[in-house]
Amino acid sequence: MLWYIIKNDTITLGEYALSNFYQYKEMPQKRLEYLNIISDIMNVRKRGDKPMAFINTYGCQQNVADSEKIKGMLSVAGFDFTEKAEDADFILFNTCAIREHAEDRVFGNVGALKNIKRRHPSVIIALCGCMMEQKAVADRIYKSYPFVNLVFGTHSIARFPELFYNLLVNSKRVFGSCDDNTIYEDIPILRDKDFKGWLSIMYGCDNFCSYCIVPYVRGRERSRSSDAIIAEAKAMIEAGYKEITLLGQNVNSYGKGLKEDISFSELLRRIDAIEGDYLIRFMTSHPKDCTRELIDTIAESTHISKHLHLPCQSGSSKILKAMNRRYTREKYLDIINYAKERIPDVSITSDIIVGFPGETYEDFCETVSLIREVGFTSLFTFIYSRRPGTPAAKMPDVATEEEKGKWFTELLKVQEEIAASRCKSMVGTTERVLVEEVNKKNGLLSARTSGNIIVEVPGDESMIGSFREVKITEARNWILRGEFI
Ligand code: 5AD
Ligand code: SF4
Repeated sequence: MLWYIIKNDTITLGEYALSNFYQYKEMPQKRLEYLNIISDIMNVRKRGDKPMAFINTYGCQQNVADSEKIKGMLSVAGFDFTEKAEDADFILFNTCAIREHAEDRVFGNVGALKNIKRRHPSVIIALCGCMMEQKAVADRIYKSYPFVNLVFGTHSIARFPELFYNLLVNSKRVFGSCDDNTIYEDIPILRDKDFKGWLSIMYGCDNFCSYCIVPYVRGRERSRSSDAIIAEAKAMIEAGYKEITLLGQNVNSYGKGLKEDISFSELLRRIDAIEGDYLIRFMTSHPKDCTRELIDTIAESTHISKHLHLPCQSGSSKILKAMNRRYTREKYLDIINYAKERIPDVSITSDIIVGFPGETYEDFCETVSLIREVGFTSLFTFIYSRRPGTPAAKMPDVATEEEKGKWFTELLKVQEEIAASRCKSMVGTTERVLVEEVNKKNGLLSARTSGNIIVEVPGDESMIGSFREVKITEARNWILRGEFI
């Protein structure tokens, strides 16, 4: 793979390989010029040997993927990365707006940066991501956080070098916003890992679930061309990636609006045809667009994980209607049952919202019964959070926060029971896992099954990034223990 090199004051495409760096198309000259000047200025301002960046990413995988693009551009400008904000010349928080709690955490952590700025006045503080697409948030940052130098939203990532350049050259705070929905194929990506990584296949969302802020902060659905996706998947596989997760807010509607006639199932089949030893995952699927063809594609594939993350949000058709999810409990169960029939041992996971406006205890009990009926491997559970500007924010809410808290605890208990019994049933079986990291708490290797269950195994760090066969010896609630065969 190619890498940019800075030589004699110009940035050009170099030839030495870095397996976690990816570039589909070369950057336009203008962006390279901005990065070049940023590099020059930061080399004067830096406090250590190299300009250092600290990037803190909140929220979902889409944000992680966006941060990897910003890291790609920063690395071209000569930055290295640090885990300590204190050591950085450039601090960036990539923010999440999905729930109020996420926003509060960001505001708290941004407030704490004031002390770093006091100790190191030259440090540049930048905020980006979904929160910054909300005018009220950007205004609050502008008024109450004067030490924040640079703010830009999800639509301005390609403009990051220009905005950063403006800040450095004019020494004035920069608040960039735009409605640009272009898909840029010329932004370099510096992935966090070199054996598993995200691959964005589409951006934005058109679903407007009544509780959700995403369509307002990430814009309309738009898909990347299949050529660009296949080229990236091939490059990752050639570079040694063992797991690729295709990303989008609603991957099932991939292809909508493209000139080429292609569905998500077809895209999966084309990626699956690439030779090599690797696993494909994808997220997130929307049940209303999850077709039998998709299930058949998974069942018949060589590389697709036997895992379906299919957020149901609620088990009550009444609440699903109020959520504007456009499927019923029955329709959801229908596709789940088909998946169970077609894919032996399929692992199904989901997202659940507890305490949506108008939800009663009876509605909540329908969610619990759905959970029991499906037998999810694991769940991401959330208490409903009011997002100003969404339709649900205006809906009357009957349950108290205390009641919602109780329901939430009840839900966790039921799910724990289900996950524990599923894990127990796996003891004695053999699983193929991808070894991911060392668990710092107990020194065991942490690996993941195709069904997305964590298995802890004693072993050597050199195994990280490889597929191994593991005999499951023990179940610990929702985590497994095993031995390499
Ligand atoms: N309140 C609580 N949970 C939410 N989610 C999205 N919006 C909200 C909200 N306002 C959850 C959904 C979604 C996941 C990514 O976050 O379950 O699937
Ligand atoms: Fe939000 Fe619904 Fe779109 Fe998911 S599908 S991002 S929950 S609006």
